[in-house]
Amino acid sequence: MSLLDQIKAKAAARKKTIVLCEGEDKRVIEAAARITKEGIAKIVLIGNEAECKKVAPEVDLTGVTLIDPLTSAKTAEYAAILYEARKAKGMTEEQAKEQAKDRTIFGALMLKAGDVDGYVSGACHSTANTLRPGLQVVKTAPGIKTVSSCFIMIAPDNKNPYNPDGVAVFADCAINIEPTAEQLADIAITSAKTAKSIAGIEPRVAMLSFSTKGSGNDDKFYQTVPKVQQAVEIAKAAAPDLALDGEFQFDAAVAPEVGKLKAPGSKVAGCANVFVFPNINAGNIGYKIAQRFGGYMAIGPVCQGFAKPLNDLSRGCNVEDIVATVAVTALQAE
Ligand SMILES: CC(C)(COP(=O)(O)OP(=O)(O)OC[C@H]1O[C@@H](n2cnc3c(N)ncnc32)[C@H](O)[C@@H]1OP(=O)(O)O)[C@@H](O)C(=O)NCCC(=O)NCCS
Repeated sequence: MSLLDQIKAKAAARKKTIVLCEGEDKRVIEAAARITKEGIAKIVLIGNEAECKKVAPEVDLTGVTLIDPLTSAKTAEYAAILYEARKAKGMTEEQAKEQAKDRTIFGALMLKAGDVDGYVSGACHSTANTLRPGLQVVKTAPGIKTVSSCFIMIAPDNKNPYNPDGVAVFADCAINIEPTAEQLADIAITSAKTAKSIAGIEPRVAMLSFSTKGSGNDDKFYQTVPKVQQAVEIAKAAAPDLALDGEFQFDAAVAPEVGKLKAPGSKVAGCANVFVFPNINAGNIGYKIAQRFGGYMAIGPVCQGFAKPLNDLSRGCNVEDIVATVAVTALQAE
Protein backbone atom coordinates (compact mmCIF):
# COMPACT_ATOMS: atom_id res chain seq x y z
CA MET A 1 0.00 0.00 0.00
CA SER A 2 1.39 3.46 -0.89
CA LEU A 3 2.08 5.96 1.91
CA LEU A 4 -0.81 8.09 0.68
CA ASP A 5 -3.20 5.13 0.82
CA GLN A 6 -1.91 4.32 4.32
CA ILE A 7 -2.57 7.93 5.38
CA LYS A 8 -6.12 7.75 3.98
CA ALA A 9 -6.78 4.40 5.71
CA LYS A 10 -5.49 5.71 9.04
CA ALA A 11 -7.61 8.85 8.65
CA ALA A 12 -10.71 6.75 7.92
CA ALA A 13 -10.19 4.81 11.15
CA ARG A 14 -10.10 8.09 13.14
CA LYS A 15 -13.46 9.46 11.88
CA LYS A 16 -12.49 13.11 12.39
CA THR A 17 -14.61 16.06 11.24
CA ILE A 18 -12.87 18.47 8.87
CA VAL A 19 -14.20 21.78 7.61
CA LEU A 20 -13.69 22.69 3.96
CA CYS A 21 -14.21 26.45 3.71
CA GLU A 22 -14.68 26.94 -0.01
CA GLY A 23 -18.13 25.66 -1.00
CA GLU A 24 -17.99 27.96 -4.00
CA ASP A 25 -15.26 25.85 -5.66
CA LYS A 26 -16.20 22.85 -7.82
CA ARG A 27 -13.06 20.89 -6.86
CA VAL A 28 -13.80 21.35 -3.18
CA ILE A 29 -17.43 20.22 -3.61
CA GLU A 30 -16.28 17.13 -5.54
CA ALA A 31 -13.65 16.37 -2.88
CA ALA A 32 -16.24 16.74 -0.09
CA ALA A 33 -18.44 14.15 -1.79
CA ARG A 34 -15.54 11.77 -2.42
CA ILE A 35 -14.12 11.99 1.11
CA THR A 36 -17.59 11.30 2.52
CA LYS A 37 -18.23 8.38 0.16
CA GLU A 38 -14.83 6.83 0.94
CA GLY A 39 -15.29 7.44 4.69
CA ILE A 40 -11.95 9.30 5.03
CA ALA A 41 -13.48 11.98 7.28
CA LYS A 42 -16.78 13.65 8.10
CA ILE A 43 -17.03 16.87 6.12
CA VAL A 44 -18.51 20.23 6.99
CA LEU A 45 -18.63 22.29 3.80
CA ILE A 46 -19.03 26.03 4.14
CA GLY A 47 -21.50 27.09 1.49
CA ASN A 48 -25.12 26.56 0.63
CA GLU A 49 -27.20 24.10 -1.32
CA ALA A 50 -28.28 26.47 -4.11
CA GLU A 51 -24.65 27.46 -4.77
CA CYS A 52 -23.40 23.84 -4.77
CA LYS A 53 -26.17 22.83 -7.17
CA LYS A 54 -25.17 25.67 -9.48
CA VAL A 55 -21.40 25.06 -9.36
CA ALA A 56 -21.45 21.24 -9.34
CA PRO A 57 -24.97 20.07 -10.27
CA GLU A 58 -23.94 16.44 -10.78
CA VAL A 59 -22.34 15.98 -7.34
CA ASP A 60 -24.26 14.06 -4.67
CA LEU A 61 -23.60 15.70 -1.29
CA THR A 62 -25.42 13.12 0.81
CA GLY A 63 -23.68 12.91 4.20
CA VAL A 64 -21.92 16.28 3.84
CA THR A 65 -22.98 18.96 6.37
CA LEU A 66 -23.47 22.32 4.67
CA ILE A 67 -23.20 25.48 6.76
CA ASP A 68 -23.63 29.03 5.49
CA PRO A 69 -22.22 31.72 7.81
CA LEU A 70 -24.79 34.17 6.44
CA THR A 71 -27.68 32.11 7.86
CA SER A 72 -26.06 29.94 10.57
CA ALA A 73 -27.26 30.28 14.16
CA LYS A 74 -23.59 29.78 15.18
CA THR A 75 -22.29 32.98 13.53
CA ALA A 76 -23.09 35.20 16.53
CA GLU A 77 -21.36 32.75 18.93
CA TYR A 78 -18.29 32.64 16.67
CA ALA A 79 -18.24 36.45 16.40
CA ALA A 80 -17.97 36.60 20.20
CA ILE A 81 -14.99 34.17 20.08
CA LEU A 82 -13.35 36.31 17.39
CA TYR A 83 -13.92 39.49 19.40
CA GLU A 84 -12.35 37.93 22.52
CA ALA A 85 -9.32 36.75 20.52
CA ARG A 86 -8.75 40.06 18.72
CA LYS A 87 -10.02 42.85 20.98
CA ALA A 88 -6.53 43.47 22.35
CA LYS A 89 -5.48 44.11 18.75
CA GLY A 90 -8.18 46.76 18.37
CA MET A 91 -11.06 44.75 16.85
CA THR A 92 -14.51 46.08 17.72
CA GLU A 93 -17.60 43.90 18.31
CA GLU A 94 -19.13 45.24 15.10
CA GLN A 95 -16.03 44.28 13.11
CA ALA A 96 -16.05 40.80 14.67
CA LYS A 97 -19.72 40.30 13.72
CA GLU A 98 -18.95 41.29 10.15
CA GLN A 99 -15.73 39.26 9.83
CA ALA A 100 -17.26 36.08 11.31
CA LYS A 101 -19.38 35.85 8.14
CA ASP A 102 -16.22 35.37 6.04
CA ARG A 103 -15.96 31.70 5.12
CA THR A 104 -12.31 31.17 6.02
CA ILE A 105 -12.63 33.09 9.29
CA PHE A 106 -15.85 31.17 10.09
CA GLY A 107 -14.00 27.88 9.44
CA ALA A 108 -11.12 28.86 11.74
CA LEU A 109 -13.65 29.85 14.42
CA MET A 110 -15.41 26.46 14.09
CA LEU A 111 -12.03 24.86 14.75
CA LYS A 112 -11.28 27.16 17.69
CA ALA A 113 -14.74 26.41 19.15
CA GLY A 114 -14.10 22.66 18.91
CA ASP A 115 -16.99 22.09 16.47
CA VAL A 116 -14.60 20.49 13.94
CA ASP A 117 -11.25 18.71 14.33
CA GLY A 118 -9.40 20.29 11.40
CA TYR A 119 -9.55 23.02 8.73
CA VAL A 120 -8.63 22.90 5.04
CA SER A 121 -8.85 25.88 2.68
CA GLY A 122 -6.84 27.65 0.00
CA ALA A 123 -8.19 26.21 -3.28
CA CYS A 124 -9.27 29.72 -4.21
CA HIS A 125 -7.59 31.89 -1.55
CA SER A 126 -3.94 32.94 -1.10
CA THR A 127 -1.71 31.32 1.55
CA ALA A 128 -1.80 34.51 3.64
CA ASN A 129 -5.63 34.71 3.56
CA THR A 130 -5.92 30.99 4.31
CA LEU A 131 -3.52 30.91 7.25
CA ARG A 132 -4.10 34.35 8.80
CA PRO A 133 -7.38 33.38 10.56
CA GLY A 134 -5.59 30.38 12.07
CA LEU A 135 -2.57 32.45 13.12
CA GLN A 136 -4.78 35.07 14.70
CA VAL A 137 -7.37 32.86 16.39
CA VAL A 138 -6.22 29.23 16.71
CA LYS A 139 -2.58 30.20 17.41
CA THR A 140 0.34 27.88 18.16
CA ALA A 141 0.60 24.63 20.11
CA PRO A 142 1.91 24.79 23.70
CA GLY A 143 5.68 25.30 23.76
CA ILE A 144 5.79 26.30 20.07
CA LYS A 145 5.90 29.89 18.84
CA THR A 146 6.22 29.26 15.11
CA VAL A 147 3.77 27.90 12.58
CA SER A 148 5.72 26.35 9.74
CA SER A 149 5.27 23.82 6.96
CA CYS A 150 6.94 20.76 5.56
CA PHE A 151 6.73 18.49 2.55
CA ILE A 152 6.62 14.73 2.95
CA MET A 153 8.85 13.50 0.13
CA ILE A 154 8.13 10.01 -1.19
CA ALA A 155 10.87 8.25 -3.16
CA PRO A 156 10.03 6.77 -6.57
CA ASP A 157 11.42 3.43 -5.31
CA ASN A 158 13.35 2.05 -2.34
CA LYS A 159 16.65 1.85 -4.19
CA ASN A 160 18.26 5.11 -3.04
CA PRO A 161 21.03 4.22 -0.55
CA TYR A 162 20.88 7.75 0.89
CA ASN A 163 17.19 7.44 1.72
CA PRO A 164 16.59 3.83 2.77
CA ASP A 165 13.25 4.74 4.43
CA GLY A 166 11.97 5.75 0.96
CA VAL A 167 10.46 8.83 2.60
CA ALA A 168 11.84 12.09 3.97
CA VAL A 169 10.56 15.34 5.45
CA PHE A 170 11.73 18.74 4.11
CA ALA A 171 11.04 21.98 6.04
CA ASP A 172 10.26 24.88 5.88
CA CYS A 173 9.68 25.26 2.17
CA ALA A 174 6.57 27.47 2.21
CA ILE A 175 5.91 29.74 5.20
CA ASN A 176 8.83 31.29 7.13
CA ILE A 177 10.96 33.30 4.75
CA GLU A 178 14.11 33.97 6.84
CA PRO A 179 13.60 32.11 10.14
CA THR A 180 15.52 33.09 13.25
CA ALA A 181 17.45 30.48 15.27
CA GLU A 182 14.45 30.12 17.62
CA GLN A 183 12.11 29.63 14.66
CA LEU A 184 14.46 27.06 13.07
CA ALA A 185 14.41 25.13 16.35
CA ASP A 186 10.58 25.18 16.37
CA ILE A 187 10.55 24.05 12.72
CA ALA A 188 12.85 21.14 13.62
CA ILE A 189 10.76 19.99 16.59
CA THR A 190 7.42 20.21 14.78
CA SER A 191 8.84 18.56 11.64
CA ALA A 192 9.97 15.61 13.77
CA LYS A 193 6.41 15.32 15.06
CA THR A 194 5.03 15.39 11.50
CA ALA A 195 7.61 12.78 10.42
CA LYS A 196 6.35 10.42 13.10
CA SER A 197 2.61 11.06 12.90
CA ILE A 198 2.13 11.49 9.14
CA ALA A 199 5.17 10.03 7.35
CA GLY A 200 5.37 7.11 9.82
CA ILE A 201 9.16 7.32 10.28
CA GLU A 202 11.35 7.58 13.37
CA PRO A 203 12.79 11.11 12.94
CA ARG A 204 16.51 11.84 12.65
CA VAL A 205 16.70 15.60 12.13
CA ALA A 206 19.51 17.35 10.23
CA MET A 207 19.85 21.13 10.48
CA LEU A 208 21.19 22.01 7.03
CA SER A 209 23.76 24.58 5.99
CA PHE A 210 26.60 25.03 3.49
CA SER A 211 28.89 24.12 6.41
CA THR A 212 29.38 20.93 8.46
CA LYS A 213 30.34 21.40 12.12
CA GLY A 214 32.17 24.64 11.43
CA SER A 215 33.84 23.60 8.15
CA GLY A 216 32.58 26.74 6.46
CA ASN A 217 32.17 29.98 8.33
CA ASP A 218 30.43 33.19 7.39
CA ASP A 219 30.93 35.04 10.69
CA LYS A 220 32.22 38.00 8.76
CA PHE A 221 29.32 38.03 6.30
CA TYR A 222 25.69 37.08 6.95
CA GLN A 223 25.95 34.96 10.13
CA THR A 224 23.94 32.14 8.56
CA VAL A 225 26.17 29.34 9.95
CA PRO A 226 26.13 30.68 13.53
CA LYS A 227 22.34 30.97 13.22
CA VAL A 228 21.97 27.27 12.36
CA GLN A 229 24.47 26.33 15.11
CA GLN A 230 22.42 28.32 17.61
CA ALA A 231 19.22 26.63 16.36
CA VAL A 232 20.82 23.22 17.04
CA GLU A 233 21.57 24.25 20.63
CA ILE A 234 18.03 25.62 21.20
CA ALA A 235 16.35 22.53 19.70
CA LYS A 236 18.55 20.12 21.67
CA ALA A 237 17.73 21.94 24.92
CA ALA A 238 13.99 21.99 24.13
CA ALA A 239 13.80 18.36 22.91
CA PRO A 240 16.70 16.46 24.51
CA ASP A 241 15.35 13.03 23.48
CA LEU A 242 15.08 13.92 19.79
CA ALA A 243 17.77 12.61 17.41
CA LEU A 244 18.82 16.01 16.02
CA ASP A 245 22.16 17.42 14.99
CA GLY A 246 23.96 19.89 12.73
CA GLU A 247 24.98 22.04 11.19
CA PHE A 248 25.37 19.69 8.22
CA GLN A 249 25.86 19.97 4.50
CA PHE A 250 23.33 17.77 2.74
CA ASP A 251 25.90 15.08 1.87
CA ALA A 252 27.13 14.91 5.48
CA ALA A 253 23.50 14.47 6.53
CA VAL A 254 22.72 11.54 4.19
CA ALA A 255 25.95 9.83 3.12
CA PRO A 256 27.42 7.61 5.90
CA GLU A 257 30.96 7.92 4.53
CA VAL A 258 30.81 11.76 4.48
CA GLY A 259 29.01 11.91 7.82
CA LYS A 260 31.68 9.79 9.51
CA LEU A 261 34.45 11.95 8.08
CA LYS A 262 32.95 15.37 8.76
CA ALA A 263 30.87 14.75 11.91
CA PRO A 264 32.39 11.75 13.70
CA GLY A 265 30.28 10.46 16.58
CA SER A 266 27.05 12.14 15.41
CA LYS A 267 23.96 9.91 15.63
CA VAL A 268 22.29 11.81 12.78
CA ALA A 269 25.13 12.44 10.30
CA GLY A 270 24.89 10.05 7.36
CA CYS A 271 21.39 8.79 8.19
CA ALA A 272 19.08 11.82 8.48
CA ASN A 273 15.49 11.62 7.24
CA VAL A 274 14.14 15.03 8.35
CA PHE A 275 15.84 18.05 6.77
CA VAL A 276 15.51 21.58 8.12
CA PHE A 277 16.68 24.12 5.55
CA PRO A 278 18.16 27.43 6.73
CA ASN A 279 15.55 29.52 4.90
CA ILE A 280 12.60 29.31 2.51
CA ASN A 281 14.80 29.88 -0.58
CA ALA A 282 16.87 26.79 0.16
CA GLY A 283 13.84 24.74 1.23
CA ASN A 284 11.63 25.60 -1.70
CA ILE A 285 14.41 25.08 -4.24
CA GLY A 286 15.50 21.87 -2.50
CA TYR A 287 12.13 20.14 -2.56
CA LYS A 288 11.60 21.05 -6.20
CA ILE A 289 15.01 19.60 -7.15
CA ALA A 290 14.08 16.35 -5.41
CA GLN A 291 10.73 16.36 -7.27
CA ARG A 292 11.98 17.18 -10.76
CA PHE A 293 15.44 15.56 -10.83
CA GLY A 294 14.91 12.84 -8.23
CA GLY A 295 11.37 11.78 -9.16
CA TYR A 296 10.14 12.24 -5.58
CA MET A 297 6.45 12.87 -4.95
CA ALA A 298 5.79 15.77 -2.58
CA ILE A 299 2.84 15.74 -0.18
CA GLY A 300 2.19 19.16 1.26
CA PRO A 301 2.85 21.77 2.31
CA VAL A 302 1.72 20.25 5.60
CA CYS A 303 1.26 23.03 8.17
CA GLN A 304 2.63 22.32 11.63
CA GLY A 305 2.86 24.11 14.96
CA PHE A 306 -0.79 25.23 15.17
CA ALA A 307 -2.70 24.38 18.37
CA LYS A 308 -5.20 22.55 16.11
CA PRO A 309 -4.65 21.41 12.51
CA LEU A 310 -5.12 23.86 9.66
CA ASN A 311 -3.86 23.22 6.15
CA ASP A 312 -3.47 25.35 3.05
CA LEU A 313 -4.18 24.03 -0.45
CA SER A 314 -2.40 25.25 -3.53
CA ARG A 315 -4.66 27.22 -5.87
CA GLY A 316 -3.61 24.81 -8.60
CA CYS A 317 -4.81 21.80 -6.59
CA ASN A 318 -6.98 19.02 -7.98
CA VAL A 319 -9.63 16.90 -6.25
CA GLU A 320 -7.06 14.22 -5.29
CA ASP A 321 -4.84 16.88 -3.64
CA ILE A 322 -7.78 18.07 -1.54
CA VAL A 323 -8.64 14.49 -0.50
CA ALA A 324 -4.99 13.90 0.50
CA THR A 325 -4.81 17.17 2.47
CA VAL A 326 -8.00 16.32 4.37
CA ALA A 327 -6.57 12.88 5.24
CA VAL A 328 -3.32 14.46 6.51
CA THR A 329 -5.32 17.00 8.54
CA ALA A 330 -7.37 14.20 10.12
CA LEU A 331 -4.13 12.49 11.22
CA GLN A 332 -2.87 15.72 12.79
CA ALA A 333 -6.02 16.09 14.91
CA GLU A 334 -5.80 15.08 18.57
C1 LIG B 1 2.47 32.93 6.97
C2 LIG B 1 2.19 34.22 6.30
C3 LIG B 1 1.22 33.93 5.22
C4 LIG B 1 1.58 35.17 7.35
O1 LIG B 1 1.42 36.40 6.72
P1 LIG B 1 0.53 37.62 7.30
O2 LIG B 1 -0.89 37.27 7.33
O3 LIG B 1 0.92 38.79 6.55
O4 LIG B 1 1.01 37.64 8.78
P2 LIG B 1 1.10 38.86 9.73
O5 LIG B 1 2.52 39.29 9.77
O6 LIG B 1 0.05 39.90 9.42
O7 LIG B 1 0.72 38.18 11.12
C5 LIG B 1 -0.59 37.84 11.49
C6 LIG B 1 -0.50 37.18 12.86
O8 LIG B 1 0.09 35.90 12.70
C7 LIG B 1 1.27 35.78 13.48
N1 LIG B 1 2.23 35.04 12.66
C8 LIG B 1 2.67 35.34 11.42
N2 LIG B 1 3.49 34.37 10.97
C9 LIG B 1 3.57 33.44 11.98
C10 LIG B 1 4.24 32.21 12.11
N3 LIG B 1 5.01 31.71 11.15
N4 LIG B 1 4.07 31.51 13.26
C11 LIG B 1 3.29 31.96 14.26
N5 LIG B 1 2.61 33.14 14.18
C12 LIG B 1 2.76 33.86 13.05
C13 LIG B 1 1.71 37.21 13.74
O9 LIG B 1 2.45 37.26 14.93
C14 LIG B 1 0.39 37.91 13.85
O10 LIG B 1 -0.19 37.67 15.10
P3 LIG B 1 -1.01 38.83 15.85
O11 LIG B 1 -1.85 39.53 14.83
O12 LIG B 1 -1.81 38.10 16.89
O13 LIG B 1 0.03 39.73 16.42
C15 LIG B 1 3.51 34.87 5.77
O14 LIG B 1 4.56 34.46 6.58
C16 LIG B 1 3.83 34.57 4.35
O15 LIG B 1 3.26 35.21 3.45
N6 LIG B 1 4.78 33.61 4.11
C17 LIG B 1 5.21 33.21 2.78
C18 LIG B 1 4.11 32.48 2.13
C19 LIG B 1 4.42 32.22 0.69
O16 LIG B 1 4.42 33.09 -0.16
N7 LIG B 1 4.66 30.98 0.44
C20 LIG B 1 4.96 30.51 -0.84
C21 LIG B 1 4.07 29.35 -1.11
S1 LIG B 1 5.02 28.04 -1.76
